[in-house]
Formats: sequence, structure tokens, C-alpha cells
Amino acid sequence: MCGIVGYIGNREAYPIVAKGLQRLEYRGYDSAGIAIYGNGELKYSKTKGKVADMRRKLEAEIDPSGTIALGHTRWATHGVPNDINSHPHFSNSGNLVIIHNGIIENYDALKKELTSRGYSFSSDTDTEVLVNLIEDVIVKEGVKLGKAVQMTLNQVVGAYAIAVFDRRKPNEIVVARLGSPLAIGIGKDEYFIASDASPFIEYTNNVIYLEDGEVAVVRKEKGIKVRKIEDDTMVDPYVQELQLNLEQIEKGGFDHFMLKEIFEQPAAIRDTYRGRLLADEGIVSMAGVDDNLERFLNAKRIIVVACGTSWHAGLVSEYLIEELTRIPVEVEYASEFRYRNPIINRDDVVIAISQSGETADTMAAIKLAKERGAFVFGVCNVVGSSIARETHAGAYTHAGPEIGVASTKAFTTQITILALIALKLAKAKGTISKSDFQMHLQELETIPQKIEVALESNDAIREVAFRYKDARNCIYLGRGCNFPVALEGALKLKEISYIHAEGYPAAEMKHGPIALIDEEMPVVVIATRKGHYEKVVSNIQEIKSRKGKIIAIINEGDTSVRELADHVIEVPETMESLSPLVNTIPLQLLSYHIAVMLNKNVDQPRNLAKSVTVE
Ligand code: M6R
Repeated sequence: MCGIVGYIGNREAYPIVAKGLQRLEYRGYDSAGIAIYGNGELKYSKTKGKVADMRRKLEAEIDPSGTIALGHTRWATHGVPNDINSHPHFSNSGNLVIIHNGIIENYDALKKELTSRGYSFSSDTDTEVLVNLIEDVIVKEGVKLGKAVQMTLNQVVGAYAIAVFDRRKPNEIVVARLGSPLAIGIGKDEYFIASDASPFIEYTNNVIYLEDGEVAVVRKEKGIKVRKIEDDTMVDPYVQELQLNLEQIEKGGFDHFMLKEIFEQPAAIRDTYRGRLLADEGIVSMAGVDDNLERFLNAKRIIVVACGTSWHAGLVSEYLIEELTRIPVEVEYASEFRYRNPIINRDDVVIAISQSGETADTMAAIKLAKERGAFVFGVCNVVGSSIARETHAGAYTHAGPEIGVASTKAFTTQITILALIALKLAKAKGTISKSDFQMHLQELETIPQKIEVALESNDAIREVAFRYKDARNCIYLGRGCNFPVALEGALKLKEISYIHAEGYPAAEMKHGPIALIDEEMPVVVIATRKGHYEKVVSNIQEIKSRKGKIIAIINEGDTSVRELADHVIEVPETMESLSPLVNTIPLQLLSYHIAVMLNKNVDQPRNLAKSVTVE
């Protein structure tokens, strides 16, 4: 995790790097730092806390002028968040400056070796070991920085995106990546380095995404030279033109990115199905599926691998795909799958779901599935991300940048893509009637409008939030494809309000969790009409008779549940299989308002990061 930013060119580097770090804070925000070279001096400041804290400190301490700088916002792995462990780190001579996102697994052995040769370390980080190892190679081998970085990286085990410069040669930055993303923005006689393109989007649309195992020397006047770390072969890098714009990564009048992203869902879903869902023609068009249709149709099984919210979207898809196509689906936590010697057959199709496209566990699960001969299909949001590139084929969700750490529009757009895949396969396999297929397409097309209606309950949901903001625990219940929605609702509450919450299939209550129910326990129940409505009503009665407080998500006009529940939130009715797309909206808003009322940092909750690039 962590965010890295660098600049080399003719402008003042500090404002670019500092603003860039603020845009990357979603990647980690427990400490931050910047090193600048200017007026013949290497200057730096680093501190525990947010980028804004670091900026205040830096501006009070040093003159930040200079045209080369490296900055870092951290999510701690080795060493607690404190000033010393914050990046940048420096070699013992004080000549080399490094920023690093990732983990060097063999750092302990390397540190012992360097210590025995007289190196000393002030931090607990693996990064300080790395920068001294580079220095050691320069001293011992008499090579230039680029070569030294390459030779050093051949000795390390782990994952990294790094940027390094030498104060004695401040006209170049050396960058490298393995397992952590690194983008190089190309301007006129200037270069931008960052974990993603958002820090430099107002300066250039031209970007090189470094591939795994590549090192690049970025020189102010002489451009970029890319090589393979392992065998030194030259690489001709591919320069992409970005579609991203500044507006997409700003809050646009909302108090938080999370709220903006909740309200963006109707538009995001339209963007997801645009050009794919052709209701009038009765077609679902998806190049990644069309080009590999035989693989899908011959699949004996679909295995979905993902983490967190993306795993919940995978669980929803299990209901959809099995119901519509009759292909068995297994949904696996990528982190478990990768370590349990899973049975993967050559005729399995693996669907990997990831908003960021950088999640290390999901990436490892993909590599394992590929090694064992499975066809791997990616569902990612971030264009050009590592997972998008590692999979055999895929479909982008086109949700636009999701910056709030709590995933919202990623979830609903992932479900949209997975619904389209399910429908396409069902049609091709003949497991859905023509009329049913057509009905699904038409209904899916109305979902953005139904979400718009669901969003109108925002004020009513804020009132419910006020009533329950001080709860210590909360239970979420749903059945069928709304069981994963209950899990997702609970995850949203946990991660941004720090209130303990659990999601259960409603019928499981009687097998244990019902013992938790008393007058203090809010229970959020998804009780919309289709599916298992009567059963859910009985479950509500069981909770009511134990004095639990019921917050029910119901369809407009439902009087039965209204009479039973303490609070109701109405959403428009849709078909059961698509109801997760609408029912999840009030749960997102409820957790958002509770977190705001508790004065929590909604967009950057404690201990979390948006992109989990460590195991
Ligand atoms: O980028 P990914 O979709 O692979 O991320 C997976 C999880 O880390 C992510 O969904 C996480 O659970 C979110 N914080 C949930 O809101």
C-alpha cells in the first residue's frame, strides 16, 4: 500500500508532490514525508499523521524550493507509524533518497549483512535497508545509480514500487516496480512519478505504466530508459493516453468522496452497461466474454476470487450465475484460496473481481489459477491496473475513480457486470427463455432510475442514523442474494464508524446469533417483496418478540413490515436477482451518516487503505 509521488523538471517540485500525495492518501495515511533537492541542498520533512500535518511542519521548517522531489504517504508494514519510520529514507552517506511502496521480505537477513559491514539504521523499516543496499552496490561495484538499483533488486525478495535519486546527480530519478503499481507521467522536459495517475492528471495525459520486473531511469533532458531488472534487456515502453479528468477526482460539492460516490451510482451503472446492454436488440455485448465464449460455455465450474466488498459482489454473482446459467459457482476469499492448494481444473473459469486491480491476494490467486491452466477473467475498475493486465480477458466496470476507502459504486457496478455476464451466458446456453432474458435486460436498464429514487430517502436515513449512532453492535439480515448485501452493509458500518456489526442470512439467527438480541440491539433487515419475503417477515417477528429494534428496508407500499418494524426505509421494487443493486443504497447511506455523526474520518478510516497491495 502507501502512495508515492515524484517530480523532476523545471517547475517547483514541492507543490506538485505535496498535492499529489493528498490525492494518494487513499492508499495510506498514517505518516508522510517529502525530500526536495534545491539550491545545492537536500531538504526534507517527515512526520506521523496526514499529508496536511506534514505540509504544515515542512513549510515551517524548510524552504521547499527545488525542481526534484520525492514524497510518500504511508500505510505502515515494518515499524509503527512515527516520524523516523516515515519515508523518504536516506542511505548512510546521506546521498541517496528513496521512497518505497511494498514489502522487502528478506530485509532482516540483508540488514544483518549490512550491519556486519558497518551500516547503521535509524528506523525499523525494510526501506532503509534497501537504500543502503543500493549504496553498498554503488560503492562496491562502482556502477551508476540505475545499474545499482537493478543489481540490488535482483537480491531482494518481495514487492515494491520505488523511486530513488542521488543528491550528487539531481537530474535523474530511478524507479522500479514488482507487484506494486508505478506510473510515469510524461510532460515537456518534465516527468511525474506516482502510484497512479491522479497526482499529475492536470499536467499530462501521457503515461507509462511500468510493468512488473522493470526498472527505468528518468532523466530531465534525456528522457526515459526502461530495462528488465532480471536480464537487463531494453524495453520499449508503451505510452498510453489517459481519459481521466480532474473533476472525477475531486469532491464536486459533496462533504466526502464516499457520499459523492454513493450518489454517483446511477451514472456509474449507466456507464457500466453503456454499449453492453442493448435491450431493444435483445443483446448483451461484452468483447471479453464474446471472444472467449467457448471457454465460458464449456466451463464445468466458475470460481470467483476476490476480497472485501468485491468478494461480496462475487457472492451476489453466485446466486445470479447459478440461477440463470446452471453453471456451479464457488466464491473464494483470494487470501484463503492462494494458500490452500485448491482444486483447479483446466476447464474451470476463474473470475477475479477487484476495484483497484492491485489487491495482492487477488493477484496471487490469479497467478495460481493461471499456473494450473484455468482461464482467468478480470472484473476491475482501474484501467491498466495489474490485475487487468494479468488476466486472460476481462471487463472494466467504468465506475470512474473510487477514492473513499469504503467501496460503494465499485460494488454496484461489479454486480452490474456480473449480471450482464450471467445473462449473456444464460442466453448462449439456452438456460433462459427469450422473454425472461428480455425482461432482465429491461429491468437492468431501469436500475439507475430506481437507485435515484432510493437516494431520495437520504434525509430519512439520516434520522435513523441519529437514533442508532451510539449503538455498540448491529446485526444485518438478508436472504438469498440479499444475504451478501447484509454482509456488505455490516462491513460498511464496521469500517467507517468502528461499530461492531455482523451480517447473517436471516434464517441463521435461530442457530445462535438470536441470543444477542435485546432492546439495545439494532437489526437492519432487508425485507423487500420478492424472494423470501414471508420467511423474512417471520424472522422479523422472532427478533421483535425478543425486543430487538428493527430497521427494515422495504418496498414502497408494504404495510405488513411497516407495522412490525421500528423504522422503515423504502426502496423501489425490482426483480429479486437485481434487488441487491437497489437494496444496498440505504445501507451505504446509513453507515455514512452514522460515521459522520460520530465524527469519524469517513474517507480515510483508521488502519485501512484503499489498495491492499500487501498480503
Ligand atoms: O480493490 P479491491 O476491490 O480488490 O479491494 C478489495 C478490498 O480491499 C475492498 O473491497 C475493501 O474491503 C473495502 N475497504 C471495502 O469497503
